[in-house]
Amino acid sequence: MSTNATAAPVTMEEITALAKRRGFIFQSSEIYGGIGGFFDYGPLGAILKRNVKDAWWREIVELRDDVVAFDSSIIMHPNTWVASGHVNAFHDKLVDCRNCKHRFRADHLSSLDKCPDCGMKDTLTEPRNFNLMMQTAIGPMEDSASRAYLRPETAQGIFVNFKNIYQSSRRRPPFGIAQIGKSFRNEITPGNFTFRVREFEQAELEYFVPNDGNDVRYYDEWVTARKRWYSDYGIRQDRLRFYELTESERPHYAKAGTDVEYLFPWGWGELESIAHRGTYDLDAHMKLSGKDLTYFDEAAKSKYTPILIESSAGMDRTTLTMLIDAYNTETITDESGKESKRVVLRFHPKIAPVQVGVFPLARNKPELVERAHEIERSLRPFARTQYDEGNVGQLYRRQDEIGTPYCIMVDYQSLEDGTVTVRERDSMSQDRVGEQKIRDYLGERL
Ligand code: GAP
Repeated sequence: MSTNATAAPVTMEEITALAKRRGFIFQSSEIYGGIGGFFDYGPLGAILKRNVKDAWWREIVELRDDVVAFDSSIIMHPNTWVASGHVNAFHDKLVDCRNCKHRFRADHLSSLDKCPDCGMKDTLTEPRNFNLMMQTAIGPMEDSASRAYLRPETAQGIFVNFKNIYQSSRRRPPFGIAQIGKSFRNEITPGNFTFRVREFEQAELEYFVPNDGNDVRYYDEWVTARKRWYSDYGIRQDRLRFYELTESERPHYAKAGTDVEYLFPWGWGELESIAHRGTYDLDAHMKLSGKDLTYFDEAAKSKYTPILIESSAGMDRTTLTMLIDAYNTETITDESGKESKRVVLRFHPKIAPVQVGVFPLARNKPELVERAHEIERSLRPFARTQYDEGNVGQLYRRQDEIGTPYCIMVDYQSLEDGTVTVRERDSMSQDRVGEQKIRDYLGERL
């Protein structure tokens, strides 16, 4: 662990309250009392999460010429999960308290002698295996023949389609296949808000490389690329660590592995795993399906099984990280010397759900309202905008709390000389800008 790392100065209570108040994240099915491990993204949260996914997609797919896009079904042939090892080995150890009936993951308890909730001694059951895959039934019969699973990771859809994809897109290793999609895990103890949930989104890159001795170099390049991505989007470097797994912490087939971790208010938590997976996954599917998933090298007239480098990031965890990392509170003093507290989310402009807020100085002056609407509409093709009106102090407070980098105020001077005030979120400094120049002004800064 980095010794000088300090978590963001915010509690999870503050984050969950802000998330609900401003429409980022709500408990799923709240009116029925909620359902453990499921969350809904509100109007701003849906945009925030989409921006996080777009930032990943842009970097991994659009800005490269060696990665292709993919989107597989959530429910796959049940044999997929036999071959992948999930049916036999995707377990957590579960213990129950015979007294309070609460359920725990054995590896989360420091001792099995005493229940951490009710405090009773010797009430915990022996640990037993609990498979984390969610089951469903296909068709009208609910028997073992109709049993299927909601995928616990998106990666397997890529592996079973490896041949379809490389043949149809005319690719040869090294090349990657990327997909973002929902995954489901029946977590025993979901918790820490959207950190450990039962339905979540993963962004996975499966990068297939030739078996020519350069595999570890590709792995190192991906670790570096992922480091750059987090730093480009402004995640504080002292709250981020790339933990290299030791040989005993890695699966037997993996030559290397790195967990990307963020220092959450409760401690370090994993955002992403980067792994050198050898030929394990393709081999496993070839064995069970009997189908050939090797790569045929036309030039060499020979075939081989490519080595896989995987980067698997949780989009809900990354979105939560963006929220927590952006959170700041400040004491500000107005012209009369009065102090007040300001909550401000310092989102990267590309991640901020609203990039430009536009307001009239007074909502009862139709000329100001109309001009503000016009400006907001004219900026829509270039930025994520929001029109709002009301008390000036409250307008800024609201936009600071949702992390809007720039706010435009239309006032009486605007009607006279066609200029507006543009306020910058972090410094709160204000510039007077001509209406015709707003687009360029914002373009340079966003
Ligand atoms: N294909 C590899 C794979 O699935 P993983 O480490 O099990 O690897 C990758 O998962 C990422 O998915 C994690 O680093 C995390 O960000 C996210 N993730 C896994 N389980 C999750 C859960 N219960 N809730 C939210 N995100 C989760």
